[in-house]
Amino acid sequence: MDFKEETKSRIRDNANDVALTRCAKDFMTASTHPKYSYNFLALGRPIIQYPQDMVAIQELIWRIKPDLIIETGIAHGGSLILSASMLALLDYCDAVQAGQPLDPKKTRRRVLGIDIDIRAHNRAAIEAHPMVHRIDMIQGSSVAPEIVAEVNKRASGHERVMVILDSNHTHAHVLAELNAYAPLVSSGSYCVVFDTIIEDMPAGTYPDRPWDVGNNPKTAVREFLSNNHDFGVDEDVEAKLLITVAPGGYLRRR
Ligand SMILES: C[S@@+](CC[C@H](N)C(=O)[O-])C[C@H]1O[C@@H](n2cnc3c(N)ncnc32)[C@H](O)[C@@H]1O
Repeated sequence: MDFKEETKSRIRDNANDVALTRCAKDFMTASTHPKYSYNFLALGRPIIQYPQDMVAIQELIWRIKPDLIIETGIAHGGSLILSASMLALLDYCDAVQAGQPLDPKKTRRRVLGIDIDIRAHNRAAIEAHPMVHRIDMIQGSSVAPEIVAEVNKRASGHERVMVILDSNHTHAHVLAELNAYAPLVSSGSYCVVFDTIIEDMPAGTYPDRPWDVGNNPKTAVREFLSNNHDFGVDEDVEAKLLITVAPGGYLRRR
């Protein structure tokens, strides 16, 4: 068996391994309260993600080669910086393949972040980061009509668009984000919906938040998919990660 086939088959076996998947689920449950997802940095900026999802995003960006990534939920900016750094590498690889010198000012591939509250110290740190030249930020609610209109305007002219949703995790909000931004996702590209894991956690895990079992990104994804048949869950991503905050949240557009 060649390496690719062997990897595929191992991923399937891992996903069907009851003891392994139980450990992964236990880890997800046990690591939520201690805020494990707050432990990491992307090129020096705090990113609120599990490392497995960071790797999945890296794999998807390489595969899709987007020229625009739209992200809701900026926080400290780590996820914007991670996406921007991958887009910079894609531009670098293009230049190498074309045998041309890389012009760091040419930043065709861009990240667009939206957050209702971009704190001054986070904005300053993002603006001081070397990746800032390919990052645009909009402050406002990701579901406000004027923000959705602005994102649509900025997305026009881009050919390959990927979307990452990681802001307010209530059913209503994520469903509104899906309805607003999924249409911008290019065929073959992804809309990644983070924190679908909330549905799989014990009820009451997030006592100080408006989301819980029955009201979260996974319930929004279910409703969205029942009305949007050109999107489907890429179960291979979850099967390989096992540890992820986005089970059933890696949505691929056909
Ligand atoms: C989980 S954090 C984002 C983490 C970030 N994506 C990362 O990986 O580091 C959620 C962010 O969503 C923002 N947010 C909450 N409600 C929002 C809304 N209605 N529209 C846009 N952003 C919102 C919060 O201000 C917060 O910065």
